[in-house]
Amino acid sequence: MMAGAGVGALALGACSGITFAGTSPLGPVTTLGLDAGQVRLDLEGTPVETWGYNGTVPGPEIRLREGETLRVPLRNGLSDPTTVHWHGISLVNAMDGAPFLTQAPVEPGAGFDYEFVVPEAGTHWYHAHVGHQLDRGLYGALIVEPRHEELSYDREYTLLLDDWRDGLDDRSEYSAGHGGHDPTGSPALPADPREWVSFGGRFYPLTLVNARPPADPYTLDVRLGERIRLRVINAAADTGFRFAIGGHRLTVTHADGMPVQHVTVDAIRIGMGERYDVLIEADAPGAWQVGVMPEGRTGYGRAILRYLDAAGSTAPPSDLRPTELDGRLLTYDDLVNTGKEETPAAGSPDRTFALTLSGTDILADGLDPTEPFLVDSGEWVRFTLRNESMKWHPMHLHGHHFRVSTPGGNGPLKDTAAVPARGGELTFDWRADNPGAWMFHCHNHYHMEDGMMRTVTYR
Ligand code: C2O
Ligand code: CU
Repeated sequence: MMAGAGVGALALGACSGITFAGTSPLGPVTTLGLDAGQVRLDLEGTPVETWGYNGTVPGPEIRLREGETLRVPLRNGLSDPTTVHWHGISLVNAMDGAPFLTQAPVEPGAGFDYEFVVPEAGTHWYHAHVGHQLDRGLYGALIVEPRHEELSYDREYTLLLDDWRDGLDDRSEYSAGHGGHDPTGSPALPADPREWVSFGGRFYPLTLVNARPPADPYTLDVRLGERIRLRVINAAADTGFRFAIGGHRLTVTHADGMPVQHVTVDAIRIGMGERYDVLIEADAPGAWQVGVMPEGRTGYGRAILRYLDAAGSTAPPSDLRPTELDGRLLTYDDLVNTGKEETPAAGSPDRTFALTLSGTDILADGLDPTEPFLVDSGEWVRFTLRNESMKWHPMHLHGHHFRVSTPGGNGPLKDTAAVPARGGELTFDWRADNPGAWMFHCHNHYHMEDGMMRTVTYR
């Protein structure tokens, strides 16, 4: 048993450099120290000073098995206080990393020991939760493997998508050549009001995949006949992306880490904080564009899917947009939950909060703007959201998964879901099964910092 755990830990160590394992009365423990500090990136020849974990952006990928314990001694080498949030994990409240709610921010030079059980498998992530720190590069993947993997695949890759501006704001050639909307101009309204529009006025010169710019792309090596699993995570602060791969379709298997009935599409749209797991069949030798297109703003990012069997093929030009980006696009209505079968008794929740998104406020019928949403342990809670604002908002509930209402009736379990702009609506139900005080906020980090956040508190 001990030897088995040790071997797993060595394999992990080979990827992340620092992981080691032990055991506790609760079972295997994975330990990974995270040092938040200064990082230097080279972005298309421009050295950029930014912030990251353990000297890298993204931070190290953390991998463990469901039911195991994760222990993370954090050291804050930044000039600002910080916390780490474990996005998508239904963990014990005290370890949630919510500043001023579950813990005081960790001062510069100080540390904090995170330790918690990860109850469920899935593609999750971790990020700083103070101010705009996430936008500087303080994020990484947190992959929880199931005890028994039901999918069969030959390789897997994790892709963290990001909008990037740090250190590049002054590069005027980017405003001209690489897109990103003009920070002084106002982008046109889209014809379809359900489109995801970001008109934050912030200017992101680059779209990165695993911190790699289009001119120096991240490459996914595959072999003919393989089945590849991709774990796609949107770690951007201010941008939703459309994602597609030239010459290949995407079979979606998980949304926000939770299993769904497999559905095959050409493209997915992924809001900030959301994750999708997709399978692709490697049946078209060559070198293909993995296209990452910001929704509602200009700019473009990419990776390369390269067949080792066709090593001679030349990579597509950096601005090539696969036609699949305009093909069949995944929507929430396409997603059918295949995980937990629980639903509210007789289809009706015990408690409903009617919420209106207005500007960057979350207004709740019958409650003052600062009042927490009080719930009782064990009950089913419904949130109905109506977006009266001009922007779309990916809303995230900490510590829980919620079931998105879809016409088919068995919607996906998610922890982050976008509400379209200008009259868009979303309803979801969740079971109050994880006591504590939890944040509910927009995952546009600028909206969150403008106050687009409420608290859910168990009585
Ligand atoms: Cu991923 Cu409160 O955030
Ligand atoms: Cu928002």
